[in-house]
Amino acid sequence: MAESNYFYITTPIYYVNDKPHIGHAYTTILADVLARFHREKGDETFFLTGVDEHGQKVQQAAERAGIDPQTHCNKMVVYFKKAWEKLEITNDFFIRTTDDFHEKVVQQVLQDLYDKGKIYEHEYGGYYCVGCERFYTTKELVDGKCPQHLKEPEYIKEKNYFFRMSKYQDWLIEYIKTHPEFIQPKSRKNEVLGFLKNKLGDLCISRPKLRLKWGIELPFDSNYVTYVWFDALLNYITAIGYKQEEERFNKWWPANYHLIGKDIVTTHCVYWPTMMRAIGIPMPKTIFAHGWWMVDETKMSKSLKNIVKPLDLIDSYGVDPVRYFLIRDMTLGQDSNFSEDIFIKRYNSELANDFGNLVSRIVTLIRKNFNSVVPKILINGKEELKIIDNAKTFPEKVHNLIDNLHLNDAVETIIIFIRSINKYMELRQPWHLVKQNKQEAGTVLYTAAEGLRIAASLLHPIMPGKISTLLKAFPTADNRKNSFEWGTLKSGEKLSELPILFPRIIKKIEVVKEVQNKGEELISIDYFSKVKLITAKVLAAERVPKTDKLLKLSIDTGEEKRQIVAGIAQYYNPEVLIGKMVIIVTNLQPVKIHGVESQGMLLTAEKGENLTLLTTFDDLGPGSYIS
Ligand code: MSP
Repeated sequence: MAESNYFYITTPIYYVNDKPHIGHAYTTILADVLARFHREKGDETFFLTGVDEHGQKVQQAAERAGIDPQTHCNKMVVYFKKAWEKLEITNDFFIRTTDDFHEKVVQQVLQDLYDKGKIYEHEYGGYYCVGCERFYTTKELVDGKCPQHLKEPEYIKEKNYFFRMSKYQDWLIEYIKTHPEFIQPKSRKNEVLGFLKNKLGDLCISRPKLRLKWGIELPFDSNYVTYVWFDALLNYITAIGYKQEEERFNKWWPANYHLIGKDIVTTHCVYWPTMMRAIGIPMPKTIFAHGWWMVDETKMSKSLKNIVKPLDLIDSYGVDPVRYFLIRDMTLGQDSNFSEDIFIKRYNSELANDFGNLVSRIVTLIRKNFNSVVPKILINGKEELKIIDNAKTFPEKVHNLIDNLHLNDAVETIIIFIRSINKYMELRQPWHLVKQNKQEAGTVLYTAAEGLRIAASLLHPIMPGKISTLLKAFPTADNRKNSFEWGTLKSGEKLSELPILFPRIIKKIEVVKEVQNKGEELISIDYFSKVKLITAKVLAAERVPKTDKLLKLSIDTGEEKRQIVAGIAQYYNPEVLIGKMVIIVTNLQPVKIHGVESQGMLLTAEKGENLTLLTTFDDLGPGSYIS
């Protein structure tokens, strides 16, 4: 992260030959989350995104549509702007490579480099892939085909202009090696260093107008336009005033992050640094390449018809859950699989359950028992102090994770804290406590509410809409809604009404049809009555050592004491189970699990990643028969 208080972040500029999909949305949301995070921290921030309008693909798409390229671009750019608006993207500028100022500066850079002899003319023959809009060397081809498009490239011979990229090879290797933060993650840095083991050629930066008209004309030869990448990469500096307003440029440059997908590593980590070196500007701090969103383990592509459109998802589930899911589910640098099922599971278990239920519980209890007035915190018991201590330290941990781009771990840390508040509520049971000691119940509710407010504030850059609604309902000192400081929530003032933030998503399943399709086996009542079910009371509970999932319970069946081993440690802390009524199968053969004997089985209900223990409506004491 930058030491200065300026933070400049960019996304790639997207080709307008296509409508935006979830992959484009991902990079843009990621940049938005980081930009919002830095703004909230007080850094002056500039967030740039935009579109790449020149090049063969766009020219061809316009031809297919029977319109001129500029009209095509004007039409397509709307899809991107609308999508970003709907996704609540807070970019400070949206660049189009057909913007006048951009075209002018690209021409000035070309002229400068030409005048300095860094661009030269040469007759050239090479393998050209239309999809990539670049020449390939024979070494780079795989079985004679382009490695990206798996198509044989065309062999083209023509006069062209070249940028002396080869001159910078040794410098670039040295720079990458001595600046470990420059290319991230490390795997991508190693990939680039591997690429640089081969001799680096010069870069062909022109296209004859005979072949491609839709580009920026070379200022020194009107028969040519410039290569689309030479034009596109310069957007990162033209947008902040390069060769227009020196002061503005110096304020933002060098960028803190260029965020890119792993498909455009070579252009960003080899072409762009050598171009910057030739121009004479410093390198950006970090170029970060994330992995791909895949669908059914394959990359999304138009031809496979497996493209996930962000707007369809938003229409079904809302903006905030979509942003949350994308940030939560991708380990930066690796590929991630997208499916609606995974999305729904994540939503239900973390947003509806862990987070949403905690919010409703706290708000309802304060409304019912304290007339919606935030209670005072008076007694600091052991359990309260644990929550307070964590609430004071974990925001810094989250900030560090975000600074190092471990966003999924940052969200996980927040969710773990929210779960700890849920457990605390289970343990302290303010709904019972309020009948015996109202002040103590108030302390519990204040502690839970303030912990929740701090956790929610940390989620604000990811889910700005829902979290703002939540924070608005919480009265705070000096209106510091998203301060991470413990004690900002103001006692004695009213909580406002809150809608349900994350209603559970229930997928319609045609149960009858399913049973018919599966041809499920039906059993007789006699068969079922062989299973003996009774109620039992938990007397003691502890974790089975060296296991993550197992708890050992001592239970009272009404007639005897028994020991049961149950795989519920991830869902229940042992102490919350003591005194609870459970339902067990009594006539199972005893088994040993991890060396511990289990004399029966607990009944649970499971859905997705959630699990709950079964109990009875009224308490008839242990040993009641279930039929
Ligand atoms: N126009 C160039 C970039 C020029 S930047 C100076 C380009 N455009 S693109 O429209 O093809 O966008 C590529 C970017 O979109 C990727 O680098 C990545 O950020 C994003 N994604 C496209 N598909 C993706 C996935 N399936 N998954 C994640 N992100 C991907 O290349």
